[in-house]
Amino acid sequence: MNEEKILEYLKIISKIKEEEKNFENVEDFIFNIQNLLKKVSLKIFIEKNKITVSSENLENLDKKDNLFIHIITEDVNQFLEGKNYSNLFNELTISLIEQKNVEDLLDAILEKLEKIIPYTSANIALLENDALYYLSFRGYEKYGVEDFMRNFKMDKREFYTLKTVMETQKPLFVENTDEYPNWVIIPETQWIKSHLMIPIIYENKILGLISFDSDTPYGFKEEDIEKVYPLLPLLGIALENAKLYEKLKKELEERIIAEEKYKRSFYQIVKLASDIVEMKDPYTSGHQKRVARISVIIGKELGLSQEKIRALAISSLLHDIGKIGIPSEILNKPSSLNPLERRFINIHPEIGYNLLRKIEIISDIAPIVYQHHERINGSGYPKGLKGEEILLEAKIIGVADVFEAMTSHRPYRSALPIDMAIKELVENKGTLYDPDVVDAFLKSLKEGRIIL
Ligand SMILES: [Fe+2]
Repeated sequence: MNEEKILEYLKIISKIKEEEKNFENVEDFIFNIQNLLKKVSLKIFIEKNKITVSSENLENLDKKDNLFIHIITEDVNQFLEGKNYSNLFNELTISLIEQKNVEDLLDAILEKLEKIIPYTSANIALLENDALYYLSFRGYEKYGVEDFMRNFKMDKREFYTLKTVMETQKPLFVENTDEYPNWVIIPETQWIKSHLMIPIIYENKILGLISFDSDTPYGFKEEDIEKVYPLLPLLGIALENAKLYEKLKKELEERIIAEEKYKRSFYQIVKLASDIVEMKDPYTSGHQKRVARISVIIGKELGLSQEKIRALAISSLLHDIGKIGIPSEILNKPSSLNPLERRFINIHPEIGYNLLRKIEIISDIAPIVYQHHERINGSGYPKGLKGEEILLEAKIIGVADVFEAMTSHRPYRSALPIDMAIKELVENKGTLYDPDVVDAFLKSLKEGRIIL
């Protein structure tokens, strides 16, 4: 090689450096370098995000040519990697600032890393109680093991690699899994021939791991670890967020379970109270449950809110709870009642009200129970309230109660036919009973929603 050519090469190198300084985008940069290299009959090839410099006339290249080619290749590749890398880092930082959810962010990290680390598959996992849970993974679909990854829990007691990384807090490099003495072979991952595991440390604690697999031995280089390092603080924050999110999710699930248990227990207690009353008044056994069923159907037909339906269900289950304070001999009297006994019976809404208003969580149903014998023309008891003065829920229970009582057998009379009970409601619609409630009831009955 003559000196002239060496000078030419040096000029090209300095012009490439200038191009690097003025870099705006990859396409223009490569195009300009192509032009520079043409002068020395060299060409650029791009493969897998890497450039290769070569000549059409390979035989004519001497040692110095090859050295030049090597320098240019290394320099340009390193420069481009740096560019990719800083772009990547910026993009990911922006993703975090934009508060994308943690899973999306981790997916984006793995996707971008694919461009700078040639992996077959990769994953980011959260470490909890000495085991790894995979939050994000990529590339495993090629081997049909996505579901396996989704459910897989890697325990440090079973996996030497994980144990080592946890103890040393340093990356672990498995160049060839066939030669690695403590590599655990499982059928789903036996295609992994080389492996790289990097701990994600946040505030001196390992929060998780980012791992890369390759289906060929020696698939990773030491430099690959360097490429991931600047991303680790970002991954640390992401995993910390994921951990907090998991904790919140768990707490919420526990709360929901506790609330459901509480609700179940609450209804069991309401039913117990309902059963106690009916035990005292066996002639009306099952009456309150049937009234509750009918009331809820009417309430739904009238479009009541869920909260009101709940209050309606509880108040109808307990509407006669005041009978607990009425002497059994009056309640269970098989013949008709005298006026004094009737007055006694008629105080059961007040007794019920006084019992229920003391229970904070159902104090809202006490006024409904109090009013369930009021009638819209003021002929009811205990107060003789009229029309709008009566709560809708109480009017609903009033209709359901009358209909259920009329169509049930009593020791002093037999059950009335349904037609007769309907007739009683229709005839007194607008005087005793709220017209809308009666209409909603009749519609539900006609459409077969009320089953007796
Ligand atoms: Fe009653």
